[in-house]
Amino acid sequence: MTDVFTPAPEPAGLVPGLPGQAQELLQANDALRQINARLSQAQEKLIQSERLASIGQLAAGVAHEINNPIGFIFSNFGTLEKYLGDLFRMLQAYEEAEAALAGTPAAAKLQGLREAIELDFLKEDIPTLMRESKDGITRVRAIVQNLKDFSRVDNSQEWVMADLHQGLNSTLGIVNNEIKYRADVVKEYGSLPEVECLPSELNQVFMNLLVNAAHAIQKERGRITLRTGTQADKVWVEIEDDGTGIAKENLGRIFDPFFTTKPVGKGTGLGLSLSYGIVQKHAGQIEVTSEPGAGTRFRVTLPVRHAQGT
Ligand SMILES: Nc1ncnc2c1ncn2[C@@H]1O[C@H](COP(=O)(O)OP(=O)(O)OP(=O)(O)O)[C@@H](O)[C@H]1O
Ligand SMILES: [Mg+2]
Repeated sequence: MTDVFTPAPEPAGLVPGLPGQAQELLQANDALRQINARLSQAQEKLIQSERLASIGQLAAGVAHEINNPIGFIFSNFGTLEKYLGDLFRMLQAYEEAEAALAGTPAAAKLQGLREAIELDFLKEDIPTLMRESKDGITRVRAIVQNLKDFSRVDNSQEWVMADLHQGLNSTLGIVNNEIKYRADVVKEYGSLPEVECLPSELNQVFMNLLVNAAHAIQKERGRITLRTGTQADKVWVEIEDDGTGIAKENLGRIFDPFFTTKPVGKGTGLGLSLSYGIVQKHAGQIEVTSEPGAGTRFRVTLPVRHAQGT
């Protein structure tokens, strides 16, 4: 495991032989260095969250633009299917009338053409092509909808009442690519009231937790379980995986900025620290339970109303 976490420098001890004032200066200098290190970590974190926000906006913009053409392709498709049905019926009638032409040059021409274009094959294949294309368009439409829901750009940065299940589902749609080859997703949703929150930010939290869960699954195929429920006037969301688990000695550091066990270039180690910040902003809690070799469970608890927790 690679651990690129860089702890703040240890405070300098007293250096024997230096006059009192110099000692004080050394200590002050050291304190400054520590503050400086923390500041630049905070700055990195801000840059990262800005970057995520602008990617979200870009995605929502693109999704919005794609939405219209997909809309008319979808509706034209329905019409096209109906027209094709009519054409096939017409063709059937022509074929039936063909018997009357038997022995004429017109019949021979029709026969030749039918074989050249493989009419029987076309009649079978066209409905299949239409069905598959419709599936494809339906999927693109769902992806676009997920992108729009995920970034909620229209009202981002505003506290609104939102359905967390919708947020979880659209986020799942976004990260499905990371998950589908590694794990089955099991949803054990309870019934949740709408929660006053910053939906696009909470979606970032769900995304980080889901991607981490998928990355933790190293075996052939694993399972990621999403649970939700309420407890007193709070709601909770759990994301559990049956992956590698987290080593005891790392458990206390996973929320630190830049703590990652992933290879250089793979993880920035900011996912959980950003998520922690977002949950704190919501006056909530994020807890982790993990058993090395068995799996990990993250639980995010949030107050239903923003004002309650503050
Ligand atoms: N579900 C999990 N199972 C096992 N280990 C985890 C899990 N979630 C987090 N971790 C550990 O916590 C570390 C920090 O997670 P974090 O999301 O902050 O950063 P990252 O995933 O390494 O990188 P990034 O999210 O920035 O791409 C991970 O490198 C991993 O070691
Ligand atoms: Mg991560």
